[in-house]
This record gives sequence, C-alpha cells and structure tokens, in this order.
Amino acid sequence: MRTRICGSGSALPKLEVTNDDLSKIMDTSDEWIKSRTGICSRHLATDETLSSLAADAALQALEEAGIAPEELDMILAATLSADRLLPTLSCELQQRLGAGKAVAFDINAACSGFLFALQTADVYIKSGQYQKILVVGGEILSKLMDWEDRSTCVLFGDGAGAAVVCPDETFGILSSVQGSDGARGEVLSCENRKNNNPYVTNSTKPSYVSMDGQEVYKFAVRTVPKAILEAVERAGLTVDEIDVFLLHQANIRIITSVSKRLGVPLEKFPTNLENCGNISAGSVPILLDHVNRRGMLKKGDKVVLAGFGAGLTWGASVLTW
Ligand code: ACO
Repeated sequence: MRTRICGSGSALPKLEVTNDDLSKIMDTSDEWIKSRTGICSRHLATDETLSSLAADAALQALEEAGIAPEELDMILAATLSADRLLPTLSCELQQRLGAGKAVAFDINAACSGFLFALQTADVYIKSGQYQKILVVGGEILSKLMDWEDRSTCVLFGDGAGAAVVCPDETFGILSSVQGSDGARGEVLSCENRKNNNPYVTNSTKPSYVSMDGQEVYKFAVRTVPKAILEAVERAGLTVDEIDVFLLHQANIRIITSVSKRLGVPLEKFPTNLENCGNISAGSVPILLDHVNRRGMLKKGDKVVLAGFGAGLTWGASVLTW
C-alpha cells in the first residue's frame, strides 16, 4: 500500500511586496536581493490569518481529491508561526472546515515541516489506522521578522499549501529520508515568549528570527543532495529517472548548487521563490500546488520533494504522481 497525493491547494496573501517596495522602507535594493537569492517579491499577510490561508488551500486540495471535509480522518498542520499557541492551527482548521471526525495536531520542523508531516501521514496510512489525511504547511513569517534587520526580513514570505493523501495500490510515496541535528541549531533561531512568572526577572523585548546565512547555506548545499540521493536509492531509482525535483524555496543559489551536485539539469527544478520568497513549511506544498495546477505533473511521473531548515532538520521523499 502506498500513500498518494490526490489533491493539492495553496493560498497567498493578496499584498505582494516587491524588492523595490522594500528599498523604499529600508537600505536594500532589488539588485542585492535578486542576485543573492533569486527573490523578486513576496506576499505578506495584512488582514489574512494563517488559519484562513490554510483553509483556502485545504478546500482546493479536498475539491481536487473529491473528498468532503467530514470524511477526513486526520489533519496534520506543519508550521512554526501558528496564529495562536493554543488551540493549534490543525484544530482551528478542523473547526473552519467542519472536519468533525478528524484527529488534528501540529508538527513543527521549521522549513522541513511539510516533509515531516507528509512522512507522518505516510506512516499512519501504511499502518492502516487512517485513510484520508489532510497535510498542510503554512506560515505567517512576517510577524517573526525584525523589520530593521535587512539581512533576514527580505528573504521570507507568507502563505499556505495543502495536500490530501489517501491509500493507493500503485502510485504514491516510494521512500523517505529524515534527519535532525540539534547541535547546530543556533545558526537559525527565534526565542519563544519569555517566562513571565513572578519569580523570574527578564526583559520583555520580543525576539525575532536570526540567522547565520552563510552557515545555513553550507548546511543546505551539503545535506540536501545527500538526503535526495539516499531517498532515490531507497526507492530503487537513480536521479536520472526523476522527472521533477520540488525543493524548499529558500534561495536560487542553493537550488542551483543542489542540481549541480546531483548532475541533474536545473530545468527539472521548478521554482516559485521569485514571487513567494521563503515560506518555510509552506514552501514545498505551495510549489507542489503551483506545479500541479500548471499541468506540469503527469500521472506516473517520479517526483522528489525535499525540505531543509531550522533545527537543523531535513527531509526528502520520492513518489510517483
Ligand atoms: N540589502 C543590501 N545589503 C545587505 C542586505 C540587504 N537586504 N542584507 C545584508 N546586506 C549586506 C550586509 O550588511 C553585508 O554588508 P557588509 O559587507 O558591508 O558588512 C553584505 O550585504 C554581505 O552580507 P552577507 O550576509 O555576507 O551576504 P551573503 O552574500 O552571505 O548573502 C544570504 C546573504 C543571501 C542570506 C546568504 O548567506 C544565503 O544565501 N544564505 C542561505 C541561507 C538561506 O537562504 N536562508 C533562508 C532561510 S533558512 C532556510 O530556509 C533553510
């Protein structure tokens, strides 16, 4: 039995902010951002919430799958920026969708979150415990950015993507790889709210995402090709047999380097970071949906999905579409 993606969806906030727009409010330029990252614009939430974006994406995925919300057995939401600490994004989604019988919980593995959630769904489906699972990845990262730190805030965007997965005899996930390295976690971090109990003295200054960009870059270009190769081997395939590689959309230079290290033409690595920026757990499912809706995936195509990011964490899956 395999776990097949039978529907996808995505939603981006309506406000699109270009590099030139940013250059009007901070000391940056389109040339700097585009040449180092490939990013031209990103969507930033204003009146949207993460649960509203996730629900829009989920409804599209359910429609394509031909499944009603009430039929869902499970909702897994990958995020590091849920609207609230409690209840979870997945439970808010359950309520919005009216998916009364679904078990719902969140997974936080930062930019690998969607891969980790998809792989969790795969295990539940293979075990026979659940059949119809909604997997969502999304972020409103703009609320976690220091808008006075031009080295991070220009890189990220907001949005949500969704996939509905079901059991299938033939098509679906062939293999998966996951990894974590907490010892190197400090290179990409953000503090949670401070302990404010009466016995603790601390400053109330909020914390924002901070990143050692060059260390993250080195981690990504070394780890991602290895993880992909391992997943492809476990699937009994070679990289030449893969039709499409859908990678976490952090930086075009990372994607170019991965394609070179694997010896695979860059044309097999579609991107949307140009107009989305880095949406962490939202990035892979949004790209998957964009590619799916453009008709770029044919039944039986062999697809690699790969995520990597804070933790540090990384994950790759190989599937037949
Ligand atoms: N506009 C203009 N100048 C800037 C900006 C900006 N937005 N940000 C930084 N600079 C300046 C710096 O101040 C520095 O100036 P200085 O030399 O006078 O001190 C100069 O540009 C170079 O800064 P670096 O940080 O060394 O720039 P680098 O070439 O390393 O590029 C980047 C930064 C794009 C983040 C790069 O390190 C990178 O690609 N990292 C990969 C990590 C990544 O993509 N992370 C995304 C999130 S993590 C994830 O999703 C896995």
